[in-house]
Amino acid sequence: MDGMGIRVEHLYKSFGKERVLTDVNLTVEPGEVVGLVGENGSGKTVLMKCVCGFLRPDRGSVTVGGKRVGKDCDFPESLGVIIETPGFLPYRSGYRNLKTLAALRGRIGRREIDEALRAVGLYESRRKAVAKYSLGMRQRLGIAQAIMEDPAVLVLDEPFNGLDKVAAARVRAILLALRDRGKAILLASHNPLDIAELCGRILEMEVQPA
Ligand SMILES: Nc1ncnc2c1ncn2[C@@H]1O[C@H](COP(=O)(O)OP(=O)(O)OP(=O)(O)O)[C@@H](O)[C@H]1O
Ligand SMILES: [Mg+2]
Repeated sequence: MDGMGIRVEHLYKSFGKERVLTDVNLTVEPGEVVGLVGENGSGKTVLMKCVCGFLRPDRGSVTVGGKRVGKDCDFPESLGVIIETPGFLPYRSGYRNLKTLAALRGRIGRREIDEALRAVGLYESRRKAVAKYSLGMRQRLGIAQAIMEDPAVLVLDEPFNGLDKVAAARVRAILLALRDRGKAILLASHNPLDIAELCGRILEMEVQPA
């Protein structure tokens, strides 16, 4: 692997006596979308949180963009993320929320933010308070946030949640274009059609026996 993408090796994570991840191994290479499927509670979100450094695994290693998560970095540098329902400041506009988040890394400005808002179809609503957004609009704002810095790696937990047909088709097209530009994408979804259309490989998670 050329230092980009995701590599997870021998990952273990338990909560008390509940084993959630047992020796999970996975790679996502640049230019590929890997699907994460499995029942509710099978550990998809826990795995994704470990990849992003939001949760510390009990054992094993996670490498994102060539950096060991939790060792070389706390949060991988070139990573865009949606984990579960994205949280935003409700009384700030969509644009203002993205601007605040972009300021954390200081890498992008208005042009890139507007471009991301346009890509997800929120440009016209960018000045509206997020409290007045529908569920699907908030989800699309989450997608805009994940892609706005053009990261090399994307971790997307149920990005199609709450999206109507048109919005879902739009997001699928965005993800395929990003894949074709060499991004490494890990995608969890309960929709078999999205998985079939987008993913070159699929990893099925199972609920661990107690
Ligand atoms: N912070 C936590 N503390 C304790 N247990 C947790 C924590 N986070 C997750 N779990 C447990 O880990 C298991 C896996 O949860 P996870 O959210 O990864 O499932 P999932 O595969 O994403 O499910 P879904 O399809 O519903 O999104 C569940 O049994 C859950 O209760
Ligand atoms: Mg989940």
